Amino acid sequence: MSNEETVTITDNSTGKQVTLPLYKPTAGPKVIDIGSLYKELGYFTYDPGFMSTASCSSAITFLDGGKGVLQYRGYPIEQLAEQSSYLEVCYLLLNNRLPNSNELDQFTNTITRHTMLHEAMIRFYSGFRRDAHPMAIMVGCVGALSAFYHDHMDIHNEEHRMITAYRLVAKMPTIAALSYRHANGKPFVYPRNSLSYTENFLHMMFSMPTEEYVPDPLLAKALDLIMILHADHEQNASTSTVRLAGSSDANPFAAVASGIAALWGPAHGGANEAVIRMLIDINQSGKPLQAFVDRAKDKNDPFRLMGFGHRVYKNYDPRAKLVREVCHKLLKDMEATGEQQKLLETAMALEKVALEDDYFVERNLYPNVDFYSGIIFLAMGIPMNMFTVIFAMARTIGWITQWIEMMSDSELKIGRPRQLYNGAIDLDYVPIDKR
Ligand code: ACO
Repeated sequence: MSNEETVTITDNSTGKQVTLPLYKPTAGPKVIDIGSLYKELGYFTYDPGFMSTASCSSAITFLDGGKGVLQYRGYPIEQLAEQSSYLEVCYLLLNNRLPNSNELDQFTNTITRHTMLHEAMIRFYSGFRRDAHPMAIMVGCVGALSAFYHDHMDIHNEEHRMITAYRLVAKMPTIAALSYRHANGKPFVYPRNSLSYTENFLHMMFSMPTEEYVPDPLLAKALDLIMILHADHEQNASTSTVRLAGSSDANPFAAVASGIAALWGPAHGGANEAVIRMLIDINQSGKPLQAFVDRAKDKNDPFRLMGFGHRVYKNYDPRAKLVREVCHKLLKDMEATGEQQKLLETAMALEKVALEDDYFVERNLYPNVDFYSGIIFLAMGIPMNMFTVIFAMARTIGWITQWIEMMSDSELKIGRPRQLYNGAIDLDYVPIDKR
């Protein structure tokens, strides 16, 4: 990041000028450092939704929404999707370099050996109602990790921060699978060290004590790919939430739990579940697709095409391209029929109608990663309310890597945005009997 250039701002009401540094990142738009603006001019800046604001500097993930580019630590997502594995991507994100084979074996072994939960934590599950949304259970249980792992919890110690990351990546599939087992009244299944990361998740989700369960390698591979695609996405709503919560030196497990809460909303990670509900509604309604596209365009109707549009991508989401291919291949290999096939056909037809419609073309609304991932999850036999849980499982590495980067920053300050106040001022208190 160099800052040889500057930008000068003139206050037209007073004629006063202030010169601000202009940083040149390794990629992406230049960034004006407005840190001294309030001191110099007495003004705040106003940017609801952070449309033009870089909230931090980071060297983890780069994305160019106009060109449809996504890179982790400089490596294009397409190459990682084709040649890497989720655990290797976790290593890359945490260590800022690809591992050699010994390092990857050692890392995989560490993660594999941290998958168990404290037995007392397992008893938490029985306190949740059977019909609790698994994301509600995730928020509670990941937050509860902060009550268990007090050793290695000096957040200013680099090694302790790494151990926290290992624990989170390792335990997240166990926490996620247990929330599913609880909701379905099925016996809890412990992790098995002989299985890969995603096979182990499928094992904890689906195996029964009554018979042998062999995870399908095709499904484990597809899940691994989806995990790679969701591993990080720079300063999105949930990641920014983790950073903001963590900036007060909060417990990192609690900070990640706040990220899970932010991810849950349908405008963010909850969209994959909303997409399938929408496709089912379309199929059951018997109405033409155009009727739904028209509703999405109607400003008086809150309906939106779920899985379309993105705050940053104004081009085809590169993750959606990859997940679309996997979705087709998987359903073909599995010889999907009936409901799954019908959902995929509806999704493809909807994509076509929307991409040829002026409204969507003019606004650069393309399918995002959630548009196809839900169909893959359904094909795996994963229930809809677990979709966002899997997203949370995959994004955990991104959240904790971003937290580590923030905690290692010598200039870390507690996050404290300002506001444009529009309320009443200087009122006189009226006693209750006089109101
Ligand atoms: N259907 C219909 N119209 C849409 C859609 C949609 N899915 N998305 C955006 N628009 C329209 C908006 O109404 C707006 O129109 P206008 O300019 O006439 O007012 C315009 O496109 C721009 O949209 P904004 O809402 O301003 O864009 P923003 O960046 O704030 O929102 C968001 C992005 C939240 C993702 C939005 O596109 C959306 O709600 N999509 C559906 C939900 C979804 O798929 N979320 C997943 C995001 S990806 C992820 O989190 C992994």
